[in-house]
Amino acid sequence: MSVRKIIRMGHPTLRRVARELIPEEIGSDEMHRLVADMIDTLHDAGGIGLAAPQVNESIRLAIIEIPGGQTRYGEIPAMPLTVFINPEIEITNPEGAGYWEGCLSVPGLRGFVTRPQHIRVRALNLHAEKMELDLQGFLATVFQHEFDHLDGRLYVDHIEDPTNLVFEEEYERYILPNESAVEEAQRRNS
Ligand code: NI
Repeated sequence: MSVRKIIRMGHPTLRRVARELIPEEIGSDEMHRLVADMIDTLHDAGGIGLAAPQVNESIRLAIIEIPGGQTRYGEIPAMPLTVFINPEIEITNPEGAGYWEGCLSVPGLRGFVTRPQHIRVRALNLHAEKMELDLQGFLATVFQHEFDHLDGRLYVDHIEDPTNLVFEEEYERYILPNESAVEEAQRRNS
């Protein structure tokens, strides 16, 4: 196992539509090695998701691991490290909400992106077994962000107002304190 290099915005692989994996490839030694490397890479970088194109492998595979617990987005259910192969997203309710997103391939920046908050995900695991998940809220955003990578999209593509693209340091200094204050007030009101 080893930590792989995460490619950054501007690398052409991040803009390519990744190819589907065929059944014979899923569960192969090569795929297990890639996933092991991606897990090492994700843990080394300290993220919650990593798509294969981010380590320059243009295939439809992503890993997601969410520690869960109390966050500034409220209580988030934990998700143990899970591998998603050839995933598909169905929007079950188009109602959207926005979060400040970051990306390991766009280091140092944060952007506010509105996405549908109710989705159904269908994918295969490393044993080529079918999975189906219904996701809401922040998790719905995380999955859409990760699977966008498989279609050559980055979160910055979804930013409607360019003033909502900021550096992490400035986000923490100027935006986060206000976000927390607003959410705090909403919680007290609800
Ligand atoms: Ni990303």
